[in-house]
Amino acid sequence: MNVHDSEHISGVLEKAGYQRTDLPQEADVVIFNTCSVRKSAEDKVWGALQAISGKGQVVAVCGCMARRLGADIFTRAPRVNLVFGVEELGKIVDLIEMSKNSQVLALGNVDDCEIDSHPTKRNNFLSAWVPISYGCSRFCSYCVVPYVRGRERSRPFSEILAEVDSLASEGTVEVILLGQNVNSYGRDFQEPIGFAEVLDFVASVEGIRRVKFETSHPRDISYSLFEVMRNREEVCPHLHLPFQSGSDRVLKHMRRGYDRQFYLDVINHARELVPGISLTTDIIVGFPGETESDFEDTLALVEEAQFDFAYIFKYSSRENTRAYLLEAELGKISEADKTRRFLEVSRLQDEITERALKRFVGREEEVITLSHAKKGPYVIGRTATNHIVLLPEKDAPIDSLIRARITASGKHALRGEVQELLIPKRVEPLPCAENVLRYSG
Ligand code: 5AD
Ligand code: SF4
Repeated sequence: MNVHDSEHISGVLEKAGYQRTDLPQEADVVIFNTCSVRKSAEDKVWGALQAISGKGQVVAVCGCMARRLGADIFTRAPRVNLVFGVEELGKIVDLIEMSKNSQVLALGNVDDCEIDSHPTKRNNFLSAWVPISYGCSRFCSYCVVPYVRGRERSRPFSEILAEVDSLASEGTVEVILLGQNVNSYGRDFQEPIGFAEVLDFVASVEGIRRVKFETSHPRDISYSLFEVMRNREEVCPHLHLPFQSGSDRVLKHMRRGYDRQFYLDVINHARELVPGISLTTDIIVGFPGETESDFEDTLALVEEAQFDFAYIFKYSSRENTRAYLLEAELGKISEADKTRRFLEVSRLQDEITERALKRFVGREEEVITLSHAKKGPYVIGRTATNHIVLLPEKDAPIDSLIRARITASGKHALRGEVQELLIPKRVEPLPCAENVLRYSG
């Protein structure tokens, strides 16, 4: 969601005549669009703010940290000139000007955020994120999202379809529908519409070859979603379904609204209704009061579920959440125990991921290439099942649709060779302005 918000920040700035630079020291404005879900994400921002060396630049912080900490950011990082909420994005150019004279704090009402009404400068043409709802009303006990992004608001269905139509007419072939809990889409409408229907409509838009979505919540998922996934080849057979903990006791304290059996029933149904579906998940270890036996329940669930991939997190204490208040009552887990549990569950999942990837070797897959790999002469692409494929840079331009043969599998990714460039990279006209302002983020 944040990466997509950044595409809007870029869109607004570029419309106002700014140009992006990848060299922060060259930038007139440096913007940090931040995440507060875990302390480690915030620590990275504090570190980067310390490291800012350029003089005369405007340094801005927006996103969840801006919302959570407001003016306190100026105290801890005096170099920051501007703290703003993305709901104030329409005023960004004026805010930048004002903040050249004094520090500016601009936070509006988060529930009024209409970020999708702003222009977008998308990172990719072929694959595009399309938010369908904002905020979250689930209030899992450990999570800051409902506080920093507000209560759940569904985006009008007509607006979503119009955006997908317009993307498809520009050549986008993949849309990724975004929401903290896509399954509860439309419940706030007078005439509710289910997420499965949204998927069905979006998949029927001419030119759209792939529809993906995230994130799903086990409690709100309806089995009609799996019917649509099975019947519509455009709906990709991938489900990201966080389970967080395998222990019923911990799940209760997390306020997740389901128990382990409920979760297992959902994924068993998913596999029955959509053979070959790829399943990924999120796991938190070290939640307050988590005993060795609770943790073993998590390991057992990982073993039983056989996920394609899992994002594993150590519980991070977030002020003012319910879990934060529970820490004294239930007991904090030591950093050493959290790390041990993290490593143990990572080791188990790594083995499962590595084994699961082997089934792809020798197959042909359609891959959309998205970015350069950090290491080696490769580009990173994704299959319809959302598996990562590394392809040789010399044959595979970024932002293309490629028919690839999978030649090898590793710990977390597949490797392949290019068979056919199905849709080549679109060439964008170069910006022509000479004396432009530069921004970095
Ligand atoms: N500590 C650790 N992980 C968290 N997540 C959310 N809040 C916390 C927290 N306080 C994880 C959950 C969620 C993912 C996006 O981040 O697993 O699904
Ligand atoms: Fe946070 Fe997801 Fe729970 Fe919403 S459903 S409160 S975003 S963990």
